[in-house]
Amino acid sequence: MIQLIRGFKDILPGEVELWQAVEKVARELLEDFGFKEIRIPIVERTELFARSIGEDTDIVEKEMYTFPDRKGDLITLRPEATASIVRAYIQHRLYAKDPVQKFYTIGPMFRRERPQKGRYRQFYQINAEIFGVQSGLVDVQLIFLLVRLFARLEVADVITHINSLGCPKCRPQFKAALSEFFASVSDQLCADCIRRKDRNPLRVLDCKVPACRAAVADAPAIIDHLCSECKADFDEVQNMLQKLGVPFVVDKNLVRGLDYYARTTFEIQTGSLGAQNAVAGGGRYDGLVSELGGPDIPATGFAIGFDRLTELTGLAASQFYRKPDIFVAALGDKSRLLAFEWICALGDEGIRAELDFAGKSLKSQMKRADRLAADHVLIVGDDELAKGEAILRNMKTKDQASIPLDGLVEAIKNRIY
Ligand code: HAM
Repeated sequence: MIQLIRGFKDILPGEVELWQAVEKVARELLEDFGFKEIRIPIVERTELFARSIGEDTDIVEKEMYTFPDRKGDLITLRPEATASIVRAYIQHRLYAKDPVQKFYTIGPMFRRERPQKGRYRQFYQINAEIFGVQSGLVDVQLIFLLVRLFARLEVADVITHINSLGCPKCRPQFKAALSEFFASVSDQLCADCIRRKDRNPLRVLDCKVPACRAAVADAPAIIDHLCSECKADFDEVQNMLQKLGVPFVVDKNLVRGLDYYARTTFEIQTGSLGAQNAVAGGGRYDGLVSELGGPDIPATGFAIGFDRLTELTGLAASQFYRKPDIFVAALGDKSRLLAFEWICALGDEGIRAELDFAGKSLKSQMKRADRLAADHVLIVGDDELAKGEAILRNMKTKDQASIPLDGLVEAIKNRIY
């Protein structure tokens, strides 16, 4: 038997109802905050991700599903959505009428990481991006939106971590201070970090190897090296979060796994998912639009790990499972053909109706209706046909009523609603 690929998964009925419910709550909230949906391709040119996420990141170095297409062009299954949304924003000149644009997208991403609880090779994200606003207040709005979403989805035990990564003006000084520090602890760093420490020292702060984590505990903090504009921006973000009553911690080592960030970055972390503690992450990426060939337009956004969200929500799939409204127990060929017409008409009226096609006994059809937890059963056999009426049984109250065959669909619709 052919099995699915490691790190990939099926989301089956019984579980998918929860995914649908979570998605509905997220979409409604995002749309209330003015985000419009954008749908982007699953596959892009490899170069798009390499240039935006960064050549030295784990994602680009080790985790992308990259392959040549039949003509030999390198293409990649998207490991994230931000780069594609930026590409679309530039390609379609979405800034031309109004640079301020808010987009969201929901869909699968692919990273070839080691699978474990909360970490998959195909996982889903809910992404939100805001273009054209320089103010840190929109970073606060994004964090506020996340916190409200988690509250609506009854996700407990989450903490907002924030940091500022500075800007091209203050970051070079900080990088130099970091490189100097890493030189003093280089004997404790992993091979990747030794390689990255001079080229891209921020990546060392993000390394997951325990020895590296211990070595960087005393590393200089970028918030101590911010220029006056970045400092004012980060102060405003913190003040406004406080005003909105959003609890947060400043986490000096939060650099995120992608290179495009500047100024405020954030992550919503949980203690409930073991090693995979980030449920959502994001931040400002002011330089990316121009780096990818667009105008100099600031941007910021986040992505939520959808799989992790469904593992953390206090909602349960069973709350959303839609049972049949009615099970039609038809006995005999003539009744079954008539019943078939009814279930088609009922479905069209928004009433979920099920029918047994196999010609089973009444007892076994009633058993199946029970198994499906149908609210009502409609019984029709030769006797009922002769009388010109069918029997409708309410499975909860056990009440029974005779329904004339003439106008039956309308009568059932009126009774069920
Ligand atoms: P990211 O931190 O790489 O950011 O991913 C965002 C979220 O996706 C993570 O916090 C996590 O919940 C989920 N996630 C990542 N990898 C996996 C995995 N292998 N299995 C399950 N869940 C996973 C980004 O992707 C940025 N594009 C976010 C962003 C948008 N920044 C600005 N705009």
